Amino acid sequence: MRTPMIAGNWKMHLTTFEAMELAAAIKNGISTDLNREVLIAPSFTNLQVVKKAISGSKILLSAQNMCWEEKGAFTGEVSPLQLKDIGCDYVIIGHSERRKIFYETDDMLNKKVKSALKNGLKIIFCIGETIEERENQQTYNVLKTQVNNGLKDITDFEMSNLVIAYEPVWAIGTGRTATPEQAEDAHIFIRREIERIFNKHISESIRILYGGSVKAENIDDLMACKNIDGALVGGESLKAEKFLRVINYMTK
Ligand code: PGA
Repeated sequence: MRTPMIAGNWKMHLTTFEAMELAAAIKNGISTDLNREVLIAPSFTNLQVVKKAISGSKILLSAQNMCWEEKGAFTGEVSPLQLKDIGCDYVIIGHSERRKIFYETDDMLNKKVKSALKNGLKIIFCIGETIEERENQQTYNVLKTQVNNGLKDITDFEMSNLVIAYEPVWAIGTGRTATPEQAEDAHIFIRREIERIFNKHISESIRILYGGSVKAENIDDLMACKNIDGALVGGESLKAEKFLRVINYMTK
């Protein structure tokens, strides 16, 4: 049985005060008896204040990115040691905004994955195709390449600390969500690929989140799909009431 995860990616939004208020509102609004994990990923500058705001709850804390090196002359970067030190549980690696805007390659992402796992951070590893790739029937190829290259040389044991997020680039921030059928189809493909690279046990136990314009209005239909184990939520995670509605999918 895979425990569902609802993750909020706050991207480059919110001042320290706003982040603290939002985290507190989410903490106060969550009912403790739901069998699902909730995670929030604020900017680096807000990690500590959010950590404090969610203390005493089961909400998990994630960074949105990290450097693959542990320390050294890497101006502007943040290391896994530093993230671990301030109490991060997770780090998001391979978000399409990192891949496209900041030119992060599969090779860099693989180094980050290895380094995060080595330093005791769990990972949300993001993959997904662009609209051109989908229209050219390249979706499976892209997902296959991203999974194989990004997770190269990761051990079976380490895979238990990794969550995959399927985020079609054309659905991110566009209001154009993948249909539950499109998402389920991609998730089945990813799960098969994980089975091919690793084994059946890992493919059945790994969580695959959907991301891309997840809203309070569409979460129920997405979560009704057998292979969708949660959501990585951007815009809708910036308003406590909306994000709580996503967290509480199918209950209210
Ligand atoms: P969105 O972003 O929900 O605003 O589309 C999702 C993401 O980029 O993780």
